[in-house]
Amino acid sequence: MTGILNKKEAYRKAVSEIRAVTDGEKDLTANLANISAVLKWALPYYSWAGFYILKDGELVLGPFQGKPACIRIKPGRGVCGRCATEKESIIVDDVREFPGHIACDPDSRSEIVVPVLRSGELKAVLDVDSAAACSFDEEDRRGLEEAAAIAASLF
Ligand code: SME
Repeated sequence: MTGILNKKEAYRKAVSEIRAVTDGEKDLTANLANISAVLKWALPYYSWAGFYILKDGELVLGPFQGKPACIRIKPGRGVCGRCATEKESIIVDDVREFPGHIACDPDSRSEIVVPVLRSGELKAVLDVDSAAACSFDEEDRRGLEEAAAIAASLF
């Protein structure tokens, strides 16, 4: 349930806006903050969108849009930690069915996490939540992997 008619078009616009706002800027915090903001406001069914950055073997909360979230996630833990370990995107239709899901926001029902990889090396994960079940599909995966590829090039 997303209430959006054309996800593909929404991601096309968001990705082009991400290219525009990051063009020529080298500051990582500013770039990741703008990427989260563009995504959160382009896709109305998102309740949270942001980055966890790999630092000293742990995922640490980075720039995001949404309610306050847990700060540190160990590899393998929760959806983000699993994504970091497997280096593959993960779509969770109902977080209540995902063993070990870390409930930052009790209203979150579905989630997608995409790895941010530079030359195969994990730099961060891009995490998006929705308050409705089954919000994310292959269109979200494609769009967010494109956004993650831009983010990776900025590390
Ligand atoms: N639910 C995530 C934790 C991060 S929040 O959703 C912002 C997880 O299980 O990894």
